[in-house]
Formats: sequence, structure tokens, C-alpha cells
Amino acid sequence: MIYTLLSNRGGVGKTTIAANLSLALSRLKEKILVVEGDFGAASLYLIFDIKPKINNFKDVLEGRAYIEDAIIEDFYPNLSILPNKIPIKTFFEMDAFKFIDVIKSLANNFSIIIVDGPAGIGKPSLISMKLADEIIIVTNPNPPAVTSALKLKKIADALNVRTRGVIVNKVPPNVGRGILRQIEIYFDTPILGVIPDDHKAEECYRRKRPIIIEYPNNTISKEINRIAYDVAGRDYE
Ligand SMILES: Nc1ncnc2c1ncn2[C@@H]1O[C@H](COP(=O)(O)OP(=O)(O)OP(=O)(O)O)[C@@H](O)[C@H]1O
Ligand SMILES: [Mg+2]
Repeated sequence: MIYTLLSNRGGVGKTTIAANLSLALSRLKEKILVVEGDFGAASLYLIFDIKPKINNFKDVLEGRAYIEDAIIEDFYPNLSILPNKIPIKTFFEMDAFKFIDVIKSLANNFSIIIVDGPAGIGKPSLISMKLADEIIIVTNPNPPAVTSALKLKKIADALNVRTRGVIVNKVPPNVGRGILRQIEIYFDTPILGVIPDDHKAEECYRRKRPIIIEYPNNTISKEINRIAYDVAGRDYE
């Protein structure tokens, strides 16, 4: 299964969730792959603090390098990472739609693929949406963010791409059940998780350390772990 994390607004927490969710999944299931979908502004390799094995992923898209040689396998057990860094000077010269077939060709080799998608509703997001079996929409709980995230849901519906659910991130303590219930109604899809706003996320991002490893008992880590059980189809223990 390929799941793409998408948001309409930037900075809502997709990369943080993609990295930590894929790590949580790797403890529940074999063969997890996490993919950089925002190849214009790659940041997954930064949050994992890894060096991409291929400096220009355009070479893979154009058949001059093998996808297998771009995948980093020896960083965490059961978790492969595809950083997809593309220098900005070649970014505009490539046929980005080739990304769809390249990622889909990996589906049989992995039990779950998590794609850290780009923000917005432009071409890169549509590509990351089209290659997914299901998308997971990430939003913050404030009304303008929710309204723009809803556009993404409508685009997915129009393209016949299924939405697995919504993750509401950076939720302040005063946000009540009301707004969450409204999200479920507007999006007509379940809320997969509600992740609190906590400066520990920022600290881990800065230190390039996954929060579920640094602070396994933090509420963010526990909630991402619970989401992982859901995505893996396992009962939460
Ligand atoms: N639950 C949280 N609480 C507080 N800060 C958070 C939380 N989740 C993420 N952040 C912080 O928000 C910032 C943006 O996070 P992140 O890069 O994961 O978002 P993004 O949606 O991937 O952004 P972009 O759209 O630019 O790709 C980072 O500094 C991160 O540490
Ligand atoms: Mg990101």
C-alpha cells in the first residue's frame, strides 16, 4: 500500500509525521519505505540526518541510475528511506510525472510505502496524490488551515483517489471536540490522529533526531504510534 501525506498549507507537520510514522510502522511490520515526495524542496534526508546516495534523483527518473541504488537501507531496521534530492537547476528540466511509475514500481517490494508529499495543490502534489493508493491529509486545527485542507480532499475525490483520513497536528490544549467533529463531518472521513502542539517536536527537528526515539513517552510519540497501529491494521496495545 502506498500512502501519501499531503497538506494544502506548508509547515503543518507532514515531514515530521512521515519520518516518525514510518519509524513506528517499521516496528510493527517488515519492509517499510519512506519516500521524499517534495523533490523540489527535499527535507526528509535532513530530518533523518542522512546523506542521499544519489545527488540528482533526476538520473533515476531518466534511466541513468537505478532506483535500488538510491534507496538507503542500513539506517534503521526494517525501514528504507528514499531521499530524492534534485538540484534546483535541474528540477525544472525533468519530467516529474515519471515519478509516479518509479514509485509504483516499488509497491511489490514493500509492505507499506509512506510518501512525504509537498504542500499545496500544484503539479508536485498532484503527482504525489496520483501515485498513492490512499492519501492522508495533514492539517492544523485553525479554521483557515482546515478550509484549505478541505480543497485537497475535494481534488482527491475528483481524481478518484481515496482519502484514508485526516491527521490534525499542532493542536493546542484548548481545542475542543467540536472542531474535530466538524472536520470529520466536512471531510467525510475519519480523524486518524490528533497530535498536540509541543515544542519538543521543534527541538527534535533542530537536532535531527526522531521524536519517537528521543522521547518515546511524549504524547506526540504515543499518538503517532497509535496511528501506526491503525495504518498497519493492528489492534492498538
Ligand atoms: N506537533 C507539533 N508541535 C510543534 N511543532 C511541530 C509539530 N509538528 C511539527 N512541528 C514543527 O513545525 C515545523 C514544520 O514541520 P514539518 O517540516 O514537519 O512540516 P511540513 O508540513 O513537512 O512542512 P513543508 O510544507 O514545508 O514540507 C517544524 O519546525 C516542526 O518541528
Ligand atoms: Mg515537509
